[in-house]
Amino acid sequence: MNSSTTRKPIRKAVFPVAGMGTRFLPATKAIPKEMLPIIDRPLIQYAVDEAREAGIEQMIFVTGRGKTAIVEHFDIAFELETTMSERGKALDILEPTRAVPGDIITVRQQVPLGLGHAIWCARAIVGDDPFAIFLPDELMIGSPGCMKQMVDAYQEVGGNLISVLEVPQAEVSSYGVIDPGESRGALTEVKGLVEKPPVDQAPSNKIISGRYILQPEVMRTLENQGKGAGGEIQLTDAMARMIGSQPFHAVTFDGRRYDCGSKVGFVEATLALALEREDMSADVRAMAERLLKA
Ligand code: G1P
Repeated sequence: MNSSTTRKPIRKAVFPVAGMGTRFLPATKAIPKEMLPIIDRPLIQYAVDEAREAGIEQMIFVTGRGKTAIVEHFDIAFELETTMSERGKALDILEPTRAVPGDIITVRQQVPLGLGHAIWCARAIVGDDPFAIFLPDELMIGSPGCMKQMVDAYQEVGGNLISVLEVPQAEVSSYGVIDPGESRGALTEVKGLVEKPPVDQAPSNKIISGRYILQPEVMRTLENQGKGAGGEIQLTDAMARMIGSQPFHAVTFDGRRYDCGSKVGFVEATLALALEREDMSADVRAMAERLLKA
């Protein structure tokens, strides 16, 4: 490991957001699940803010039909801003939603063939650059954020990086799982990867938690990737095939993770973040205590 080596910086991130969000129906019938808010920010906004904090400039959304609200969210809302200005209202709350022209790019995943296929749909825009991936369902709260922690680790080791965290063994079959090698601080060498293994065959309880830094060669690997777990083209399978030819490390995220792809996780995230907000924590705490007594 040579910390003085200059790495090509991570400037691009891919956000696979084409999923139909069936677990949150009927809420997600007409709006994308990524637009569901945790308090007052949609999930996609948390992910984009985390990307920006890590120095990422170009956001590539892999969308599908019915997902245009995500792009609208990062546009300038001319009528809204004009009306608010005329009424003397501050616009700073909208600042993180106003993308620099050219920084939001969308491609369509026309058929739901899996996460690996969704990422492959962005290959022309990713080109020959290393890039990040964010799964917005996984809400990562930390200071610095998860991707910033990963970018810092990337400066040191380069290659491919995934964020991992430990879950109870009984839950591993819902995730991508790593076969861990040697560890040094937050970094663990990745010797193998398996998507959604049966509990008794999982190589560890360290799961891939929705953040990646990958080299562009993964696009070539995905090109001829067959179907894997669940009959889908799996990103995990393509990454597994790259181990050995490129450095591969896991970063144990120092922070909190909420699984906003599940209803209970979504409620937990809402409550946890509300309890941290200065403008509402006292009221929310009192409310929670009242509800628990009832
Ligand atoms: C995806 C990945 C899996 C990862 C998980 C994190 O699975 O394929 O490796 O652990 O996200 O949420 P999905 O939740 O799309 O089935």
